[in-house]
Amino acid sequence: IRAQNSVVINADLGKDKISKHIYGHFAEHLGTCIYGGFYVGDTNKVIPNTNGVRNDIVDALKKLKVPNLRWPGGCFADTYHWKDGVGPKANRPAIVNRWWGGVTEDNSFGTHDFLNMCEMIGAEPYLAGNVGSGTVQELSDWVQYVNGKPNTSPMTTWRVKNGREKGWNVNIWGVGNEAWGCGGNMKPEYYANIYRQYATYMSDFENDAKKFRVASGANGNDYNWTEVLMRDIPHNMMEGVALHHYAVINWNQKGPARDFTEQQYFATMRSAWRMEEFVTRHSTIMDKYDPNKRVALVVDEWGGWYEVEPGTNPGFLFQQNTIRDAMIAGMTLNIFNNHADRVRMANLAQTVNVLQAVILTNQEKMLLTPTYHVMEMYNVHQDATMLPLQLKTNDYVLGNEKLPAVSASASKDKNGTAHVSLVNIDASKPQTVTIDVRGLNIKSVSGRILTSKKLQDYNSFDQPTKIQPTAFNGAKLNGNSLEVQLPPFSVVVLALK
Ligand code: AHR
Repeated sequence: IRAQNSVVINADLGKDKISKHIYGHFAEHLGTCIYGGFYVGDTNKVIPNTNGVRNDIVDALKKLKVPNLRWPGGCFADTYHWKDGVGPKANRPAIVNRWWGGVTEDNSFGTHDFLNMCEMIGAEPYLAGNVGSGTVQELSDWVQYVNGKPNTSPMTTWRVKNGREKGWNVNIWGVGNEAWGCGGNMKPEYYANIYRQYATYMSDFENDAKKFRVASGANGNDYNWTEVLMRDIPHNMMEGVALHHYAVINWNQKGPARDFTEQQYFATMRSAWRMEEFVTRHSTIMDKYDPNKRVALVVDEWGGWYEVEPGTNPGFLFQQNTIRDAMIAGMTLNIFNNHADRVRMANLAQTVNVLQAVILTNQEKMLLTPTYHVMEMYNVHQDATMLPLQLKTNDYVLGNEKLPAVSASASKDKNGTAHVSLVNIDASKPQTVTIDVRGLNIKSVSGRILTSKKLQDYNSFDQPTKIQPTAFNGAKLNGNSLEVQLPPFSVVVLALK
Protein backbone atom coordinates (compact mmCIF):
# COMPACT_ATOMS: atom_id res chain seq x y z
CA ILE A 1 0.00 0.00 0.00
CA ARG A 2 1.41 3.38 -0.98
CA ALA A 3 1.59 6.07 1.65
CA GLN A 4 -1.04 8.74 1.42
CA ASN A 5 -0.12 12.26 0.34
CA SER A 6 -1.18 14.78 2.94
CA VAL A 7 -1.40 18.54 3.28
CA VAL A 8 -2.05 20.46 6.49
CA ILE A 9 -3.07 24.06 5.88
CA ASN A 10 -3.00 26.60 8.67
CA ALA A 11 -5.64 29.02 7.44
CA ASP A 12 -5.32 31.28 10.50
CA LEU A 13 -1.53 31.60 10.42
CA GLY A 14 -1.11 33.50 7.15
CA LYS A 15 0.93 36.70 7.38
CA ASP A 16 2.73 37.24 4.07
CA LYS A 17 1.03 38.56 0.98
CA ILE A 18 1.59 36.71 -2.31
CA SER A 19 2.53 39.68 -4.45
CA LYS A 20 0.57 39.77 -7.68
CA HIS A 21 3.89 40.61 -9.34
CA ILE A 22 4.94 36.95 -9.02
CA TYR A 23 2.59 36.45 -11.98
CA GLY A 24 4.53 38.79 -14.30
CA HIS A 25 5.51 38.20 -17.93
CA PHE A 26 8.38 39.05 -20.23
CA ALA A 27 8.42 40.30 -23.84
CA GLU A 28 11.73 40.62 -25.65
CA HIS A 29 12.60 41.75 -29.16
CA LEU A 30 13.25 38.13 -30.00
CA GLY A 31 11.82 36.04 -32.83
CA THR A 32 8.13 36.79 -33.25
CA CYS A 33 7.38 37.88 -29.71
CA ILE A 34 7.04 41.58 -30.63
CA TYR A 35 7.07 41.75 -34.45
CA GLY A 36 4.51 39.28 -35.80
CA GLY A 37 3.33 38.58 -32.24
CA PHE A 38 2.15 41.50 -30.15
CA TYR A 39 2.75 43.98 -32.92
CA VAL A 40 1.47 43.59 -36.46
CA GLY A 41 2.09 47.17 -37.62
CA ASP A 42 -0.23 50.15 -37.44
CA THR A 43 -1.21 49.90 -41.12
CA ASN A 44 -2.37 46.28 -40.81
CA LYS A 45 -5.97 45.95 -42.03
CA VAL A 46 -6.25 42.17 -41.72
CA ILE A 47 -5.61 41.52 -38.03
CA PRO A 48 -7.74 43.67 -35.68
CA ASN A 49 -5.35 45.94 -33.81
CA THR A 50 -5.04 49.18 -31.88
CA ASN A 51 -2.07 51.22 -33.05
CA GLY A 52 -0.56 48.02 -34.38
CA VAL A 53 -1.03 45.92 -31.22
CA ARG A 54 -3.30 42.87 -31.65
CA ASN A 55 -6.63 43.26 -29.90
CA ASP A 56 -7.01 39.52 -29.26
CA ILE A 57 -3.68 39.41 -27.40
CA VAL A 58 -4.58 42.44 -25.31
CA ASP A 59 -7.93 40.83 -24.38
CA ALA A 60 -6.32 37.51 -23.47
CA LEU A 61 -3.68 39.20 -21.29
CA LYS A 62 -6.31 41.33 -19.55
CA LYS A 63 -8.16 38.14 -18.64
CA LEU A 64 -4.92 36.70 -17.33
CA LYS A 65 -4.54 39.74 -15.04
CA VAL A 66 -0.94 40.28 -16.09
CA PRO A 67 0.47 42.45 -13.28
CA ASN A 68 3.70 43.53 -14.99
CA LEU A 69 5.46 43.09 -18.30
CA ARG A 70 9.24 43.19 -18.73
CA TRP A 71 10.68 44.71 -21.92
CA PRO A 72 12.72 45.03 -24.22
CA GLY A 73 14.92 42.09 -23.08
CA GLY A 74 16.73 39.92 -22.03
CA CYS A 75 19.99 40.04 -23.88
CA PHE A 76 18.45 42.46 -26.36
CA ALA A 77 18.08 45.09 -23.61
CA ASP A 78 21.85 45.53 -23.32
CA THR A 79 22.09 46.33 -27.03
CA TYR A 80 19.01 48.56 -27.12
CA HIS A 81 19.26 52.32 -27.44
CA TRP A 82 15.82 53.62 -26.58
CA LYS A 83 16.24 56.91 -28.45
CA ASP A 84 16.25 54.90 -31.71
CA GLY A 85 12.65 53.89 -30.95
CA VAL A 86 10.88 57.23 -30.40
CA GLY A 87 9.70 59.94 -32.78
CA PRO A 88 8.28 59.52 -36.31
CA LYS A 89 8.59 55.87 -37.34
CA ALA A 90 9.91 56.72 -40.80
CA ASN A 91 12.94 58.43 -39.25
CA ARG A 92 13.92 55.63 -36.88
CA PRO A 93 17.23 53.91 -37.64
CA ALA A 94 17.38 50.20 -38.34
CA ILE A 95 19.82 48.05 -36.38
CA VAL A 96 20.82 44.40 -36.38
CA ASN A 97 19.38 42.23 -33.61
CA ARG A 98 22.70 40.54 -32.99
CA TRP A 99 21.57 38.20 -30.23
CA TRP A 100 18.49 36.84 -31.90
CA GLY A 101 18.89 35.61 -35.48
CA GLY A 102 20.77 38.65 -36.83
CA VAL A 103 17.51 40.06 -38.21
CA THR A 104 16.84 43.73 -38.92
CA GLU A 105 15.25 45.62 -36.06
CA ASP A 106 13.55 48.64 -37.58
CA ASN A 107 12.66 50.17 -34.21
CA SER A 108 9.02 50.59 -35.22
CA PHE A 109 7.97 49.25 -31.82
CA GLY A 110 9.51 51.55 -29.23
CA THR A 111 8.95 53.16 -25.86
CA HIS A 112 5.58 54.80 -26.63
CA ASP A 113 4.28 51.64 -28.31
CA PHE A 114 5.26 49.49 -25.35
CA LEU A 115 4.07 51.77 -22.59
CA ASN A 116 0.74 52.49 -24.30
CA MET A 117 0.31 48.74 -24.79
CA CYS A 118 0.86 48.17 -21.06
CA GLU A 119 -1.88 50.71 -20.35
CA MET A 120 -4.25 48.76 -22.64
CA ILE A 121 -3.42 45.47 -20.89
CA GLY A 122 -3.55 47.03 -17.43
CA ALA A 123 -0.04 45.78 -16.67
CA GLU A 124 2.74 47.74 -14.96
CA PRO A 125 5.69 48.19 -17.30
CA TYR A 126 9.07 46.82 -16.23
CA LEU A 127 11.76 48.54 -18.31
CA ALA A 128 15.14 46.83 -18.55
CA GLY A 129 17.88 49.45 -18.94
CA ASN A 130 20.97 49.04 -21.09
CA VAL A 131 24.05 48.76 -18.89
CA GLY A 132 26.14 46.43 -21.10
CA SER A 133 26.57 48.80 -24.06
CA GLY A 134 24.73 51.93 -22.96
CA THR A 135 25.63 54.88 -20.78
CA VAL A 136 24.59 56.26 -17.44
CA GLN A 137 23.29 59.34 -19.25
CA GLU A 138 21.17 57.26 -21.61
CA LEU A 139 19.40 55.43 -18.80
CA SER A 140 19.03 58.61 -16.79
CA ASP A 141 17.44 60.26 -19.86
CA TRP A 142 15.03 57.32 -20.27
CA VAL A 143 13.80 57.73 -16.69
CA GLN A 144 13.29 61.46 -17.30
CA TYR A 145 11.61 60.87 -20.65
CA VAL A 146 8.99 58.39 -19.43
CA ASN A 147 8.28 59.86 -15.99
CA GLY A 148 9.10 63.57 -15.83
CA LYS A 149 6.49 66.36 -15.71
CA PRO A 150 5.61 67.70 -19.18
CA ASN A 151 7.97 70.30 -20.65
CA THR A 152 10.23 70.54 -17.60
CA SER A 153 13.39 69.24 -19.28
CA PRO A 154 14.70 68.54 -22.79
CA MET A 155 13.60 64.89 -22.41
CA THR A 156 10.06 65.67 -21.33
CA THR A 157 9.68 68.35 -24.00
CA TRP A 158 10.74 65.74 -26.56
CA ARG A 159 8.17 63.28 -25.17
CA VAL A 160 5.39 65.84 -25.49
CA LYS A 161 6.50 66.59 -29.04
CA ASN A 162 6.30 62.86 -29.76
CA GLY A 163 2.67 62.81 -28.72
CA ARG A 164 2.52 62.02 -25.03
CA GLU A 165 1.74 64.80 -22.58
CA LYS A 166 1.70 63.04 -19.20
CA GLY A 167 4.44 60.65 -18.14
CA TRP A 168 3.68 56.93 -17.74
CA ASN A 169 4.95 56.74 -14.20
CA VAL A 170 7.15 53.70 -14.69
CA ASN A 171 8.23 52.32 -11.33
CA ILE A 172 9.91 49.01 -12.14
CA TRP A 173 13.39 49.27 -13.67
CA GLY A 174 16.01 46.67 -14.42
CA VAL A 175 19.61 47.83 -14.24
CA GLY A 176 21.05 45.63 -16.98
CA ASN A 177 20.36 41.95 -17.66
CA GLU A 178 22.55 38.89 -17.08
CA ALA A 179 25.54 41.13 -16.41
CA TRP A 180 27.56 37.92 -15.87
CA GLY A 181 26.91 36.91 -19.51
CA CYS A 182 25.27 38.65 -22.47
CA GLY A 183 24.98 41.84 -20.40
CA GLY A 184 28.73 42.45 -20.35
CA ASN A 185 30.50 39.36 -18.95
CA MET A 186 31.19 41.25 -15.75
CA LYS A 187 32.45 40.03 -12.42
CA PRO A 188 30.03 40.58 -9.54
CA GLU A 189 32.29 43.11 -7.78
CA TYR A 190 32.57 45.16 -10.98
CA TYR A 191 28.83 44.98 -11.67
CA ALA A 192 28.02 46.00 -8.08
CA ASN A 193 30.08 49.19 -8.58
CA ILE A 194 28.53 49.90 -11.96
CA TYR A 195 25.08 49.31 -10.47
CA ARG A 196 25.71 51.93 -7.79
CA GLN A 197 26.75 54.41 -10.45
CA TYR A 198 23.69 53.81 -12.67
CA ALA A 199 21.26 53.76 -9.76
CA THR A 200 22.56 57.12 -8.54
CA TYR A 201 21.44 58.84 -11.72
CA MET A 202 18.15 56.99 -12.26
CA SER A 203 16.15 59.88 -11.02
CA ASP A 204 13.20 61.85 -12.31
CA PHE A 205 13.12 63.81 -9.04
CA GLU A 206 9.39 63.15 -8.72
CA ASN A 207 8.57 59.47 -8.40
CA ASP A 208 11.76 58.35 -6.71
CA ALA A 209 10.10 57.13 -3.55
CA LYS A 210 8.19 54.58 -5.57
CA LYS A 211 11.00 53.39 -7.81
CA PHE A 212 11.64 49.63 -7.76
CA ARG A 213 15.15 48.99 -9.12
CA VAL A 214 16.19 45.43 -9.88
CA ALA A 215 19.87 44.47 -9.95
CA SER A 216 20.87 41.94 -12.59
CA GLY A 217 20.99 38.70 -10.66
CA ALA A 218 22.48 35.27 -10.49
CA ASN A 219 22.30 32.44 -12.97
CA GLY A 220 20.87 29.41 -11.16
CA ASN A 221 23.20 28.38 -8.36
CA ASP A 222 25.71 31.25 -8.58
CA TYR A 223 25.36 32.09 -4.90
CA ASN A 224 28.49 34.20 -4.87
CA TRP A 225 26.80 36.65 -7.24
CA THR A 226 23.97 37.30 -4.77
CA GLU A 227 26.39 37.43 -1.86
CA VAL A 228 28.50 40.16 -3.50
CA LEU A 229 25.51 42.25 -4.59
CA MET A 230 23.87 42.09 -1.16
CA ARG A 231 27.19 42.97 0.48
CA ASP A 232 28.35 45.73 -1.86
CA ILE A 233 25.19 47.57 -2.93
CA PRO A 234 23.54 49.77 -0.30
CA HIS A 235 20.03 48.41 0.26
CA ASN A 236 18.45 51.83 -0.11
CA MET A 237 19.67 51.83 -3.72
CA MET A 238 18.20 48.48 -4.72
CA GLU A 239 14.67 47.17 -4.27
CA GLY A 240 15.16 43.80 -5.95
CA VAL A 241 17.86 41.28 -6.89
CA ALA A 242 17.16 39.06 -9.87
CA LEU A 243 17.58 35.32 -10.40
CA HIS A 244 17.28 33.43 -13.70
CA HIS A 245 16.60 29.73 -13.99
CA TYR A 246 15.29 27.78 -16.97
CA ALA A 247 14.02 24.21 -16.81
CA VAL A 248 16.37 22.67 -19.34
CA ILE A 249 17.48 19.06 -19.73
CA ASN A 250 20.99 19.89 -20.96
CA TRP A 251 22.09 23.06 -22.73
CA ASN A 252 23.75 21.02 -25.48
CA GLN A 253 20.83 18.61 -25.94
CA LYS A 254 17.65 20.30 -24.93
CA GLY A 255 15.30 17.72 -26.45
CA PRO A 256 12.16 18.35 -28.47
CA ALA A 257 9.30 20.51 -27.21
CA ARG A 258 6.63 18.00 -28.29
CA ASP A 259 7.72 14.44 -29.00
CA PHE A 260 9.69 13.90 -25.81
CA THR A 261 10.17 10.62 -23.95
CA GLU A 262 9.27 10.04 -20.33
CA GLN A 263 13.01 10.22 -19.51
CA GLN A 264 13.13 13.69 -21.04
CA TYR A 265 9.95 14.66 -19.19
CA PHE A 266 11.48 13.50 -15.92
CA ALA A 267 14.69 15.42 -16.60
CA THR A 268 12.70 18.60 -17.28
CA MET A 269 10.80 18.14 -14.01
CA ARG A 270 14.07 17.60 -12.15
CA SER A 271 15.43 20.85 -13.55
CA ALA A 272 12.21 22.73 -12.78
CA TRP A 273 12.28 21.46 -9.18
CA ARG A 274 15.71 23.03 -8.70
CA MET A 275 13.91 26.36 -8.44
CA GLU A 276 13.01 25.40 -4.85
CA GLU A 277 16.68 24.92 -3.96
CA PHE A 278 17.78 28.12 -5.74
CA VAL A 279 15.11 30.30 -4.21
CA THR A 280 15.78 28.87 -0.74
CA ARG A 281 19.54 29.29 -0.89
CA HIS A 282 19.55 32.75 -2.47
CA SER A 283 17.01 33.79 0.19
CA THR A 284 19.27 32.49 2.95
CA ILE A 285 22.10 34.69 1.67
CA MET A 286 19.76 37.65 1.44
CA ASP A 287 18.54 37.01 5.01
CA LYS A 288 22.12 37.37 6.23
CA TYR A 289 22.44 40.92 4.84
CA ASP A 290 18.79 41.93 4.90
CA PRO A 291 16.98 40.18 7.77
CA ASN A 292 14.00 42.50 7.43
CA LYS A 293 13.50 41.35 3.85
CA ARG A 294 13.48 44.82 2.34
CA VAL A 295 15.08 43.67 -0.91
CA ALA A 296 12.95 41.32 -3.03
CA LEU A 297 14.17 38.26 -4.89
CA VAL A 298 12.93 38.80 -8.46
CA VAL A 299 12.92 35.68 -10.66
CA ASP A 300 12.58 37.72 -13.82
CA GLU A 301 13.26 34.82 -16.22
CA TRP A 302 11.92 31.30 -15.74
CA GLY A 303 10.29 28.58 -17.84
CA GLY A 304 11.01 25.52 -19.99
CA TRP A 305 13.58 25.75 -22.78
CA TYR A 306 13.70 23.09 -25.53
CA GLU A 307 14.95 22.76 -29.10
CA VAL A 308 13.13 25.04 -31.51
CA GLU A 309 10.34 23.55 -33.62
CA PRO A 310 11.86 21.79 -36.66
CA GLY A 311 12.21 24.10 -39.64
CA THR A 312 12.05 27.33 -37.62
CA ASN A 313 14.84 29.88 -37.17
CA PRO A 314 17.10 28.61 -34.34
CA GLY A 315 17.58 32.23 -33.21
CA PHE A 316 13.83 32.70 -32.69
CA LEU A 317 13.36 30.21 -29.83
CA PHE A 318 9.91 29.16 -31.01
CA GLN A 319 8.63 26.03 -29.25
CA GLN A 320 5.25 24.36 -28.74
CA ASN A 321 3.77 24.12 -25.28
CA THR A 322 2.47 20.82 -23.89
CA ILE A 323 1.11 19.49 -20.62
CA ARG A 324 4.76 19.23 -19.54
CA ASP A 325 4.84 23.04 -19.58
CA ALA A 326 1.67 23.16 -17.49
CA MET A 327 3.51 21.03 -14.90
CA ILE A 328 6.50 23.41 -14.89
CA ALA A 329 4.18 26.39 -14.45
CA GLY A 330 2.09 24.81 -11.69
CA MET A 331 5.02 23.62 -9.58
CA THR A 332 7.09 26.78 -10.09
CA LEU A 333 4.24 29.07 -9.11
CA ASN A 334 3.66 26.91 -6.02
CA ILE A 335 7.33 27.42 -5.12
CA PHE A 336 7.05 31.19 -5.57
CA ASN A 337 3.81 31.35 -3.56
CA ASN A 338 5.39 29.43 -0.70
CA HIS A 339 8.36 31.82 -0.69
CA ALA A 340 6.15 34.92 -0.86
CA ASP A 341 8.07 36.58 1.97
CA ARG A 342 11.13 37.03 -0.28
CA VAL A 343 10.04 36.26 -3.86
CA ARG A 344 7.92 39.28 -4.65
CA MET A 345 8.19 39.40 -8.40
CA ALA A 346 8.77 36.95 -11.27
CA ASN A 347 8.50 36.92 -15.05
CA LEU A 348 7.73 33.92 -17.20
CA ALA A 349 9.83 33.77 -20.38
CA GLN A 350 8.23 34.76 -22.73
CA THR A 351 4.69 35.97 -23.43
CA VAL A 352 4.15 35.35 -27.17
CA ASN A 353 5.80 32.84 -29.55
CA VAL A 354 9.06 32.52 -27.58
CA LEU A 355 10.10 29.77 -25.13
CA GLN A 356 7.34 28.88 -22.63
CA ALA A 357 4.79 31.21 -24.19
CA VAL A 358 1.25 31.73 -22.95
CA ILE A 359 0.11 32.77 -26.44
CA LEU A 360 1.05 31.50 -29.90
CA THR A 361 0.13 33.24 -33.13
CA ASN A 362 0.11 32.26 -36.78
CA GLN A 363 -0.92 35.13 -39.07
CA GLU A 364 -4.45 36.05 -37.94
CA LYS A 365 -4.80 32.94 -35.73
CA MET A 366 -4.04 32.98 -32.03
CA LEU A 367 -4.17 30.27 -29.37
CA LEU A 368 -3.80 29.99 -25.62
CA THR A 369 -1.29 27.41 -24.43
CA PRO A 370 -1.65 25.06 -21.42
CA THR A 371 0.70 27.45 -19.59
CA TYR A 372 -1.76 30.30 -20.15
CA HIS A 373 -4.47 28.23 -18.49
CA VAL A 374 -2.32 27.48 -15.43
CA MET A 375 -1.47 31.18 -15.02
CA GLU A 376 -5.17 32.01 -15.33
CA MET A 377 -6.25 29.33 -12.83
CA TYR A 378 -3.60 30.53 -10.37
CA ASN A 379 -4.41 34.23 -10.59
CA VAL A 380 -6.71 33.82 -7.57
CA HIS A 381 -3.50 33.88 -5.51
CA GLN A 382 -2.58 37.40 -6.68
CA ASP A 383 -2.27 39.69 -3.64
CA ALA A 384 -3.93 37.07 -1.39
CA THR A 385 -2.48 36.05 1.99
CA MET A 386 -0.21 33.05 1.72
CA LEU A 387 -1.31 30.19 3.98
CA PRO A 388 1.58 28.14 5.31
CA LEU A 389 1.22 24.42 4.72
CA GLN A 390 2.98 21.16 5.48
CA LEU A 391 3.07 18.68 2.65
CA LYS A 392 3.93 14.98 2.65
CA THR A 393 4.17 13.54 -0.82
CA ASN A 394 4.80 10.26 -2.56
CA ASP A 395 7.63 10.08 -5.02
CA TYR A 396 7.41 10.09 -8.77
CA VAL A 397 9.85 7.29 -9.55
CA LEU A 398 11.55 6.60 -12.86
CA GLY A 399 14.29 3.95 -12.90
CA ASN A 400 16.59 4.74 -9.99
CA GLU A 401 15.52 8.33 -9.68
CA LYS A 402 12.73 10.02 -7.81
CA LEU A 403 11.13 13.42 -7.41
CA PRO A 404 8.32 14.67 -5.18
CA ALA A 405 5.11 13.84 -7.07
CA VAL A 406 2.80 16.42 -5.51
CA SER A 407 3.33 20.11 -4.93
CA ALA A 408 0.91 22.55 -3.32
CA SER A 409 0.37 26.13 -2.19
CA ALA A 410 -2.56 27.93 -0.59
CA SER A 411 -3.83 31.45 0.02
CA LYS A 412 -6.81 33.31 1.44
CA ASP A 413 -8.29 36.19 -0.57
CA LYS A 414 -9.88 39.37 0.74
CA ASN A 415 -13.35 37.76 0.77
CA GLY A 416 -12.14 34.96 3.03
CA THR A 417 -12.10 32.27 0.32
CA ALA A 418 -9.12 29.93 0.51
CA HIS A 419 -7.56 28.61 -2.69
CA VAL A 420 -5.36 25.54 -2.86
CA SER A 421 -3.34 24.74 -5.97
CA LEU A 422 -2.12 21.18 -6.39
CA VAL A 423 0.09 19.59 -9.02
CA ASN A 424 0.73 15.89 -9.62
CA ILE A 425 3.71 15.53 -11.98
CA ASP A 426 3.67 11.71 -11.96
CA ALA A 427 3.49 10.55 -15.58
CA SER A 428 1.33 7.49 -14.85
CA LYS A 429 0.07 7.33 -11.26
CA PRO A 430 -2.90 9.20 -9.82
CA GLN A 431 -2.38 10.57 -6.32
CA THR A 432 -4.84 10.78 -3.47
CA VAL A 433 -4.22 13.79 -1.25
CA THR A 434 -5.88 14.39 2.11
CA ILE A 435 -6.06 18.05 3.03
CA ASP A 436 -6.63 19.02 6.63
CA VAL A 437 -7.59 22.66 6.95
CA ARG A 438 -7.12 24.29 10.35
CA GLY A 439 -8.55 27.67 11.34
CA LEU A 440 -11.25 27.87 8.65
CA ASN A 441 -14.79 26.55 8.64
CA ILE A 442 -15.31 25.09 5.17
CA LYS A 443 -18.85 24.85 3.88
CA SER A 444 -18.23 24.11 0.23
CA VAL A 445 -15.50 23.13 -2.19
CA SER A 446 -15.31 23.68 -5.94
CA GLY A 447 -12.44 23.51 -8.36
CA ARG A 448 -10.98 23.36 -11.84
CA ILE A 449 -8.53 20.94 -13.39
CA LEU A 450 -6.10 21.09 -16.31
CA THR A 451 -4.91 17.79 -17.76
CA SER A 452 -5.07 15.82 -21.00
CA LYS A 453 -4.87 12.28 -22.35
CA LYS A 454 -1.17 12.38 -23.14
CA LEU A 455 1.74 14.24 -21.61
CA GLN A 456 2.76 15.38 -25.09
CA ASP A 457 -0.64 16.91 -25.90
CA TYR A 458 -0.73 20.57 -26.91
CA ASN A 459 -3.06 23.16 -28.42
CA SER A 460 -2.51 23.51 -32.15
CA PHE A 461 -3.99 25.99 -34.63
CA ASP A 462 -6.24 23.13 -35.81
CA GLN A 463 -7.30 22.21 -32.29
CA PRO A 464 -6.73 25.37 -30.26
CA THR A 465 -8.91 24.35 -27.31
CA LYS A 466 -7.88 20.72 -26.96
CA ILE A 467 -6.43 21.52 -23.52
CA GLN A 468 -8.39 23.86 -21.31
CA PRO A 469 -9.55 23.90 -17.71
CA THR A 470 -12.69 21.96 -16.82
CA ALA A 471 -14.75 21.62 -13.64
CA PHE A 472 -13.12 19.34 -11.09
CA ASN A 473 -15.28 16.89 -9.18
CA GLY A 474 -12.52 14.90 -7.51
CA ALA A 475 -12.59 16.63 -4.09
CA LYS A 476 -14.77 15.27 -1.25
CA LEU A 477 -15.40 17.35 1.82
CA ASN A 478 -15.66 15.65 5.18
CA GLY A 479 -15.87 18.18 8.02
CA ASN A 480 -12.74 20.28 7.66
CA SER A 481 -10.92 17.63 5.75
CA LEU A 482 -10.80 16.99 2.03
CA GLU A 483 -9.91 13.96 0.01
CA VAL A 484 -8.68 14.89 -3.44
CA GLN A 485 -8.01 12.54 -6.37
CA LEU A 486 -5.36 13.98 -8.66
CA PRO A 487 -5.00 12.25 -12.04
CA PRO A 488 -1.48 11.82 -13.46
CA PHE A 489 0.03 15.05 -14.84
CA SER A 490 -2.69 17.37 -13.64
CA VAL A 491 -3.02 20.83 -12.12
CA VAL A 492 -5.99 21.49 -9.84
CA VAL A 493 -7.06 24.71 -8.13
CA LEU A 494 -9.69 24.42 -5.38
CA ALA A 495 -11.82 27.16 -3.84
CA LEU A 496 -12.81 26.54 -0.23
CA LYS A 497 -15.62 28.66 1.16
O1 AHR B 1 14.74 34.57 -22.65
C1 AHR B 1 15.76 34.35 -23.57
C2 AHR B 1 17.12 34.81 -23.07
O2 AHR B 1 17.51 34.03 -22.00
C3 AHR B 1 17.19 36.22 -22.53
O3 AHR B 1 17.36 37.16 -23.52
C4 AHR B 1 18.39 36.17 -21.64
O4 AHR B 1 18.32 37.08 -20.59
C5 AHR B 1 18.43 34.73 -21.17
O5 AHR B 1 19.67 34.18 -21.29
